[in-house]
This record gives sequence, C-alpha cells and structure tokens, in this order.
Amino acid sequence: MSVPLLDLKAQYASIKPQIDAAVQRVIDSQYFILGPEVSGLEAEIAAYCHTAHGIGVASGTDALLVALMAIGVGPGAEVVTTPYTFFATAGVIARLGARPVFVDIEPHSFNMDAEAAAGAVTAHTRAIIPVHLYGRVAAMEPLLEPGIPVIEDAAQAIGARDQIGNVAGSMGMMGCFSFFPSKNLGGFGDGGMVVTSDPALAERLRILRVHGMEPKYYHQVVGGNFRLDALQAAVLRVKLPFLDGWSAARRRNADRYRTLLHEARLAGSVVPPEDVPGHIYNQFVIRASRRDQLQAYLRSHAVGTEIYYPVPLHRQACFADLGYGTGSLPEAERAAAETLALPIYPELTAEQQEYVVDRIAEFYQG
Ligand SMILES: Cc1ncc(COP(=O)(O)O)c(C=O)c1O
Repeated sequence: MSVPLLDLKAQYASIKPQIDAAVQRVIDSQYFILGPEVSGLEAEIAAYCHTAHGIGVASGTDALLVALMAIGVGPGAEVVTTPYTFFATAGVIARLGARPVFVDIEPHSFNMDAEAAAGAVTAHTRAIIPVHLYGRVAAMEPLLEPGIPVIEDAAQAIGARDQIGNVAGSMGMMGCFSFFPSKNLGGFGDGGMVVTSDPALAERLRILRVHGMEPKYYHQVVGGNFRLDALQAAVLRVKLPFLDGWSAARRRNADRYRTLLHEARLAGSVVPPEDVPGHIYNQFVIRASRRDQLQAYLRSHAVGTEIYYPVPLHRQACFADLGYGTGSLPEAERAAAETLALPIYPELTAEQQEYVVDRIAEFYQG
C-alpha cells in the first residue's frame, strides 16, 4: 500500500464535471482578471467567514502583505508574531521594512502564546499577527485587549472555529486566507483573500490591490498587482460548498488516528494533536521521538509525511540580524525538532490510516 501526504487527484475526480464547466465558463467569457467570478467568490467567502467584505488577492502572502500595507506598517514599526509558521507570515513584515518581534508558542497548541504576545507590545508595535496553525484557532482575547490592529493569518484555517464558535478570520481587524492547492479550500494555483468588516479598510485594500489606483490611472497611494485570477475564483466557487464536508472528513480522520494510536499503545513515543472543537486539520501534526528516523522509516514504506517546519523563523539565516540565539524561543525550537505531519486529506481511507499507524508501531517496536 502507498499513502501519499496529500492526494489532490481524488478530490478533483469527485467534482470534475462541475470544475470543468466552471473553467470553461471563464474561458468562454475571456474575462480573466477580477470580474464577476472574483466578486462572486468575495461575497461567498465573506459570508462564510461571517464578515462584511472579502478582497480577493493573488496569494495568502499577498493577503498578509496588503493587510499590513493598508494599516501603514513600514520602517520603524514592530509586528508581533509567532516564529513557528510558514515563512510568509514574517517575510511580509520584513519586506515592508518593519521588524518581526517573535514570541514563543504554547506547546499544546503550537500556536503563539497570546499572553506573551500581549507582553511583547511596545510603543512601536503597529500590528499583531496570530497564526491559526494547522487549522486550529489561536487564543485571541489577550491580543485584542491592547487595541492594536490584529491581523489573523488564517491561511491554514478557513472555516475553523474557536471554543465559542467564532470563525477564523472574523475576530481581528482583518483575516488573511491562502488558496494554495494543499489548503482545505485549494485552487488550481495560487490565490488568497483578505476579509474584514470595516468598509473603509475594505475600500483601501481594493485600491491597494490595483497599484493604489482610483480612479483609473490616478494613484493616491503606492499599491501593487495583488489581483486574484477569475479562473481561480471559478474553481474555488465550485469547491466552497463542499468545504465543510471535507473538513468534517479530516476531523473524522483525526479522531480515527487518535483511536488507532491509542490502541497501538504508542503514548510514550507519539503525541497526537489535542482534540479540540472547531479544528479543521489542514495538517495532523504529531510529536514523535526520533522524528527524523521515523520519517525515513515511513518513507521507505511509501507513507508520505512532512516536517512543518524544520527551522523556526527566529533561527532563519535571513533573520540573524534580529539577534535571536539558539534557545531564545525554546518551545518553537522543540516543536521544530519533534513534529511530523501525517496524511489527513478527506479521501484517506480507514485501511490507509491503519497501515500508517501499523508502520509507526512497527518502527517503535523494531
Ligand atoms: C501560515 C501561512 N501563512 C501564509 C501562507 C502564504 O500563503 P501562500 O502560499 O498562498 O502565499 C501560508 C501558505 O503556505 C501559510 O501556511
């Protein structure tokens, strides 16, 4: 048996006629940039996220970049965020000439320690970016208290909810999503969205998305080309009605892994992610002893896994001048050394999951 980390062909096969028709509709219209598919998707995602506005952009990275631009983050500003995330979260801060201020994560959730983040706020802090990592909503309340703009990096968390039902992306000033193909709602290429319920901010984001242009060929501010393609929007509009079902299937798979790992008596070697309501499991990430050897063993038995992320951002070469030494953010460093993502995609079968857990058990028994 082989178990890939992700099988996008299985999902496409399940909705091929609808996808193909939507793509053909855009081709027939020859309307490729913004237009009705993009505005349709914007309205649908905004409603899905319980926000008033959605602004489609070219990627999750551009969503974060334009969100920071919209609130004037630039040289001299500090932005508080987590070091245990995909590079884009901090890359956009640095690209604007601002300084990422990293705070450590909670070991149980892998998300930024919200109390530590609130404690890292200074007179220079212009924004806080929590990341709902792997599809689990990060603690938000302490972040919202100082009154500093909070931009949710919800790239991995569309449709995720916190304990009381708040939807990812709707709690801060803006929420940023990625439609990278491996996300729970993935396009056929890059794509992203910013959601907000502030109409003035929504207008500013729309203008920044087209080079700061309003009206045509008149530029009050410098923006960029952050536009979302109509082809991507059309594909995503077909997929959106299926999203909750796919996320429920991921949750079911997560529960099944927890049961199988428990039955295999692996508690001393493997720690599965906590069972919390509202998690949408973009990734199912375990802590594993002898992680790298386990990954190699699984690879040799045709089980795909991934290490998200082997080097926390405060230890990346490009951020060396920020001065974070080894051991400065120990929980992020420990997570980077211990974690491994197992296949969790919706179409994964019970047999495949049993195979994965059997191989894990074999590795630790052998
Ligand atoms: C947490 C996080 N932030 C930002 C991004 C950037 O999104 P994109 O790849 O669409 O630019 C990603 C996606 O990989 C991500 O996982």
